[in-house]
Amino acid sequence: MRTSVAGKVLWITGASSGIGRAAAIEAARRGARVVLSGRRAEALDETAAACKAARGQAAAVLAFDLENPEARAEACEAAPSLLGPIDALVLNAGMTQRSTFMETSAEAFDRVMRLDFDAQVDLARRVLPGMVSRGSGCLVAVSSFVGLAGMPRRPAYSAAKHAIAGLFQNLRAELGGSGIRVVTVYPGYVRTAVAHNALDGSGRPTGKADPNIEGGVDPAVVGRDIVRAIEGGPAEVRSGFTLKLRFGLFLSRRLPRAWARMSARHEGL
Ligand SMILES: NC(=O)c1ccc[n+]([C@@H]2O[C@H](COP(=O)([O-])OP(=O)(O)OC[C@H]3O[C@@H](n4cnc5c(N)ncnc54)[C@H](OP(=O)(O)O)[C@@H]3O)[C@@H](O)[C@H]2O)c1
Repeated sequence: MRTSVAGKVLWITGASSGIGRAAAIEAARRGARVVLSGRRAEALDETAAACKAARGQAAAVLAFDLENPEARAEACEAAPSLLGPIDALVLNAGMTQRSTFMETSAEAFDRVMRLDFDAQVDLARRVLPGMVSRGSGCLVAVSSFVGLAGMPRRPAYSAAKHAIAGLFQNLRAELGGSGIRVVTVYPGYVRTAVAHNALDGSGRPTGKADPNIEGGVDPAVVGRDIVRAIEGGPAEVRSGFTLKLRFGLFLSRRLPRAWARMSARHEGL
């Protein structure tokens, strides 16, 4: 059953940039009220202005660092007081990496896992009870192509994105009949700052472009898919998958050694 996001409150993390920003603007264009999170308040203000310009709906900024457990707890307390109870939580904020498993320090590995998995679990755990008591809501996880098929030089990122996808399959089954929709979005390559923000083996941002990301789809494509999924589209969405990525996914399932060789040679596809 399709339900419009008009009048609904969406809390979107990672809304200061890329996919989260695009999803927020698309949701606002369709009449949703949006709570926008990330660390950079100024960039969130810009997204809020773009959301308000889209259809004049309310947009609130809730800046905090997802890596800080106390800040997460405070944000989850504060979020429903801004625009009302959260109808949909979009767990989009995240970071990737560009180093082999052997090159990656334990600290850098743990940092990616903490942000891309632990912090998402914590937010879901804190927001879900409100949805359950109201008998409605939608949880969205932004996983990745690498949450379906691992790739070289993304050891913790591949692990975290598989982990969140697995958790969401579990939740979808457990929450069947509760009125709560559980959606997983798997973007392919998307033209955002994600590669620049990727960590190297020592845990520092690489600050480097990645030709696959530069040649990826516009974040608006994924933003639209996220909002459509909240409105009742498929529970698992592969967004912006090129023919090459579809072929890669097929190979990874049917011929995993061939996929390993190909993804190692081309670093992706
Ligand atoms: N781009 C792609 O090709 C691609 C492909 C598959 C999946 N994805 C996934 O899509 C999601 C969005 O990424 P993107 O491509 O839009 O990248 P992006 O432009 O780098 O955006 C990342 C967002 O996450 C937020 N964030 C990062 N660390 C945070 C922290 N510690 N606390 C709070 N917020 C934090 C950033 O906000 P601040 O900087 O303001 O903190 C920013 O808004 C990620 O989960 C990513 O893994 C991206």
